[in-house]
Amino acid sequence: MTDEPGQPPALTTLSLAEKAHVSKAVEQKVTPFDVSGGVDESGKLLPVDYDKLVREFGANLISKQLLERFEKVTGHRPHRFMRRGIVFSHRELNVILDRYEKGQPFFLYTGRGPSSDSVHVGHTIPFEFTKWLQDVFDVPLVIMLSDDEKFMHSQKIEIDDARKYTKANVMDIIAVGFDPKKTFIFSNLDFVGAAFYENICRLAKRITINSVRGTFGFTDSNNVGEFHFCATQSASAFATSFPHIFGTDRKKVASIPALIPCAIDQDPYFRQCREHAEKMKYKKPALIHSIFLPALQGPGSKMSASVDSSAIFMNDTPNRIKNKINKYAFSGGQDTAELQRKLGGNTKVDVPFQYLTFFLEDDDELERIRVAYEKGEMLTGELKQRCIAEVQAYVQAFQERRAQVNEQTVAEYMRQRPLEWKGNPNPIVVEKPKK
Ligand code: TRP
Repeated sequence: MTDEPGQPPALTTLSLAEKAHVSKAVEQKVTPFDVSGGVDESGKLLPVDYDKLVREFGANLISKQLLERFEKVTGHRPHRFMRRGIVFSHRELNVILDRYEKGQPFFLYTGRGPSSDSVHVGHTIPFEFTKWLQDVFDVPLVIMLSDDEKFMHSQKIEIDDARKYTKANVMDIIAVGFDPKKTFIFSNLDFVGAAFYENICRLAKRITINSVRGTFGFTDSNNVGEFHFCATQSASAFATSFPHIFGTDRKKVASIPALIPCAIDQDPYFRQCREHAEKMKYKKPALIHSIFLPALQGPGSKMSASVDSSAIFMNDTPNRIKNKINKYAFSGGQDTAELQRKLGGNTKVDVPFQYLTFFLEDDDELERIRVAYEKGEMLTGELKQRCIAEVQAYVQAFQERRAQVNEQTVAEYMRQRPLEWKGNPNPIVVEKPKK
């Protein structure tokens, strides 16, 4: 393309052959309902271009300076997801750090759409990170199970299915290790009402059909429930939706913002929420976004709960994990050991290496592996073995915690009750301006 930036594209006439060629390429598409990196002209799947996505969404990449400030303000080294660009983008994380520094309140909000009984490792990434944030900040956390959303969005899911999935998923979420004193988990099918419903209505009144069409790619064939759900997902970003946690002093509670850790595909909901928050006299939620764990087949797709060979499930046995990685994990290595020794492997597309960046805590070891693999000193088989051990350990630790979760535990996390938290133990004292 020779077009200058900012200029309208030049008008050209394409021959039919040229048109056919052009139409093979498909742009990347990321909405809460559809994630694909697009397809190039030869029909090859492309990885999601996260930098481009962040520019299009109007969010911000997490800079080195912001990471340094995070460490200074919280006294914690940033999580490996942050150090490695897995949690990579944000909206107003700096505002949350300002508040933490001064000991001003905020809370965490995240969620899951329960669409099957089984949770895979990809689903646990934002939760794992949220748990860490909860430990670092010592603040309350609310977790939405959007069973209403999944019921309305899927032809296959009935209300009873949605409820069943919610229960199974809540057990898995609890197994991530959230502190029961600071965590409220709720199902929309049960919790919508009262203060929460008031906020849903306040938002629904402001969200036009037009803006939902634009933001989510809905058409006239989407049902009204899908349109309306946008207000439900966003209403949890307001502390006034949870009087049992924050109390009923509306004016005070309205000034408590949320920090929402989520995968980047959820950003459209909260963009819309942020647009309306201040007109509703609430604080805008801040966001912190993660990328997707790639499917075993490679970085062009994300793990899918409905494709067994694409994902490692949290109830897979050690042996199954080993077989799946050996059999399906896309390798960036060479076809033979000789070639690998000579040319080395490509860690950028190698799925076992990518998984190590998610799960291996030790930065130095990860760097040693990267160098050895790229130089050809390490073979594909060895890399896969290292990856298998790490993923097995992650899943096993989860399964041990999962075995402790029962109906009673679930009832406790889902009970409407006050929570206990302390926030920053050493806030900077800001002097009140003298009157
Ligand atoms: N819509 C999300 C999904 O389909 C679930 C969800 C609800 C959520 N509220 C959220 C995700 C807040 C992240 C943050 O999985």
